[in-house]
Amino acid sequence: MGKHVVIGISGGIAAYKTMQLIRLFKKGGYEVRVTATRNALQFVTPLTIETLSQNKLYTDMFDPNRTMEVEHIALADWADALVVAPATANILGKFAHGIADDALSTLFLAVKKPVFLAPAMNSNMFENTVVQDNIRLLHERGCHILTPNEGFLACGTTGSGRMQEPEEIFERVDEELANDHTLQDKRVLITAGPTYEPIDPVRFIGNHSSGLMGFCLAEAAARKGAQVTIVSGPSSCTAKHPNIHRVDVKTAEEMYQQCMKIVDQQDIVIMSAAVADYTPAHPAPEKIKKEQAGMAVELVRTKDILASVGKIKRDNQLLIGFALETENEVENAKKKLHNKNADLIVLNSLRTAGAGFRTATNQVTIFSKDGREFASELKSKQEIAEEILQTALMYIQK
Ligand code: CTP
Repeated sequence: MGKHVVIGISGGIAAYKTMQLIRLFKKGGYEVRVTATRNALQFVTPLTIETLSQNKLYTDMFDPNRTMEVEHIALADWADALVVAPATANILGKFAHGIADDALSTLFLAVKKPVFLAPAMNSNMFENTVVQDNIRLLHERGCHILTPNEGFLACGTTGSGRMQEPEEIFERVDEELANDHTLQDKRVLITAGPTYEPIDPVRFIGNHSSGLMGFCLAEAAARKGAQVTIVSGPSSCTAKHPNIHRVDVKTAEEMYQQCMKIVDQQDIVIMSAAVADYTPAHPAPEKIKKEQAGMAVELVRTKDILASVGKIKRDNQLLIGFALETENEVENAKKKLHNKNADLIVLNSLRTAGAGFRTATNQVTIFSKDGREFASELKSKQEIAEEILQTALMYIQK
């Protein structure tokens, strides 16, 4: 069943953008109910709101046609989140000081779920200390403030006070609601991306890994409340969540060193990096000039980070490895699980179209040390990350 969001609209010109916000929530699978102040309805019409939300608009506490349930209480219980967009200086003032003289301000007092406020007003009003104090108060009381952007304002000036774009608001709320706190206070170490093993200052031995799977895992774990460290080889992926600490490395040896420094403090270790198994024995200090004949590069084995962690891991640490196979997939994956002393191994098959390197999707099978098997459908790497963590949660010692 979809999540429930109540959108509160107060009387500012940005209310027209809130119509797009309703659409985004509907498209995202949410059920949407809307409450609007009297002034908001100067800017947008009940018909637009009801058509887009496919629900009755809640405006008046004393509507003679209302049902017998106390609406603002029923709505507060129904909601998974309240999003007020735009939030005018007036409504912020009421929220901050407990004034409840219309449906929206009354609802605000009754809601115990996350509240998101998207202020929108003229920049002088926004910068006014009264408004800033109210915003600070609301923030301190746990409301999520969606700080307005700088830009062109409806009053003809340019400055701060422009409501965040509907897409930004939707994403922030959606992400926050996805946070189920199941990894609260847990520490998670993730390796990601390829490693680059230098042949000389210009060339290296690398592979096709983009790092996306590892970064999706990092975001998903952080959204569940974990403190995440991602040790990543060269990757253009970015870590967005504030609970993610990123450590950039190039070689397998650097990745090994960085992981070993902190592995002891981790609750979960996920090794999704495509670590080079070999590295040039004698990387040249200067660029190698070409010669007539062919050339050979002597390679030596790198340290196996997963196996090294497997050797020292404690019973209350969960170790997850990845296996990328092209033949005898299941057998090889299970062998790796055993040989490297992991608790879970995630098998990627390069045979599946749409799975593996440089794709946005993946399909995996997870094997556990206790002999169980969890197969996924072909899904986005975000969804796969979520499934891997759900499986990990079954094994983590609380
Ligand atoms: N791994 C690692 N350190 C290495 C090599 C691999 O930590 N030096 C980890 C990977 O991050 C992955 C798992 O080991 O979680 C499996 O890696 P893979 O390269 O598929 O397996 P190998 O053990 O190298 O075996 P092979 O190349 O023979 O398939």
